[in-house]
Amino acid sequence: MDTPIDLRSDTVTRPTPAMREAMAKAEVGDDVMNEDPTVHALQAKTAAMLGKEAALFVPSGTMANLIAILAQCPPGETTILGQDAHPYRFEAGGGAFVGGVMMRPLTGINGILDPDDIAHCVVRTEDTHASETGLIAIENTTNFGGGNIYPLDTIKRIRAVADSNGIRVHCDGARLFNAAVASGIPAADFARDVDTVSVCFSKGLGAPVGSAVAGSKAFIDRARKLRKMLGGGMRQAGVIAAAALYALEHHVERLRDDHRRAAAVRSAIEGMPGISFPMPTPTNIVFADVPDVMKFIGEVGSRGVLILPVGSKRIRAVFHLDVHDNDVDRIIEAFKAGMKPA
Ligand SMILES: Cc1ncc(COP(=O)(O)O)c(C=O)c1O
Repeated sequence: MDTPIDLRSDTVTRPTPAMREAMAKAEVGDDVMNEDPTVHALQAKTAAMLGKEAALFVPSGTMANLIAILAQCPPGETTILGQDAHPYRFEAGGGAFVGGVMMRPLTGINGILDPDDIAHCVVRTEDTHASETGLIAIENTTNFGGGNIYPLDTIKRIRAVADSNGIRVHCDGARLFNAAVASGIPAADFARDVDTVSVCFSKGLGAPVGSAVAGSKAFIDRARKLRKMLGGGMRQAGVIAAAALYALEHHVERLRDDHRRAAAVRSAIEGMPGISFPMPTPTNIVFADVPDVMKFIGEVGSRGVLILPVGSKRIRAVFHLDVHDNDVDRIIEAFKAGMKPA
């Protein structure tokens, strides 16, 4: 059988030969001692692309989010975030376990939170009964909102809510470059009105490991300490930072190919019986509803296409660096087979 086409996530990509070559040639030093030149180069480039004073290389998006929460939301206080936000659903309760932070999940529209809803939920009070709000966290693009992109105006309005209450805003930008490429809005513009922002190199950008968190110099000093505490201080990390640097230099613009392929698959089957699309597909993540998820996944899988069940009737297919134009027809045929009634 042909090689499987793995659409379960954009985290499944493997480093390309050119990326591996960059890794092999990387200059390295001890990054816990802050002496790795490749890590420094990656952090400087990331900070510049995000329009922030500084950035810190961390092992995962999960750690980036946890550091942002620990640095900005004191124990016993509350972080407001989406009900499908990654730190709420998929980070093993780290904010609560490590930071003693309460989470206040809000329902958004395809992952986009309404600034008025946030304002309504913010708690700032002398009342001794209350857990005060310490942080608002948004996700851009929204993973479980179908790779949806935050409108700049909504981010500005969330900033205004935060400012009027003296609280901070974090953006989980695991796929922020997807948002930038799809909208034509620079990543730095999306990051302007948040205090801290994280990005992942190991998703559509195709690096094997790594994320970064960015913000003010003072935040990054604190983040460096928290990273060490969490066990994320890495020694000759330049070997993996080189892959991330390569990804920033060569793989950002190509994210639009992933978006185009996701849209092509969707438009080839939209309107046919046996499948429906609960939300738009502006970037690389397609959610679809099917009557029998396990049957659908089995049929599609037997044709070498792997997808993820995410609900009793819902599946997710994510497009990335290792999905090519000549895979698109095979994906469409596999989906059509899955859509046929039993
Ligand atoms: C929106 C979002 N944030 C954070 C993460 C966490 O990244 P990691 O798997 O590197 O911990 C993911 C992972 O898929 C994600 O989709």
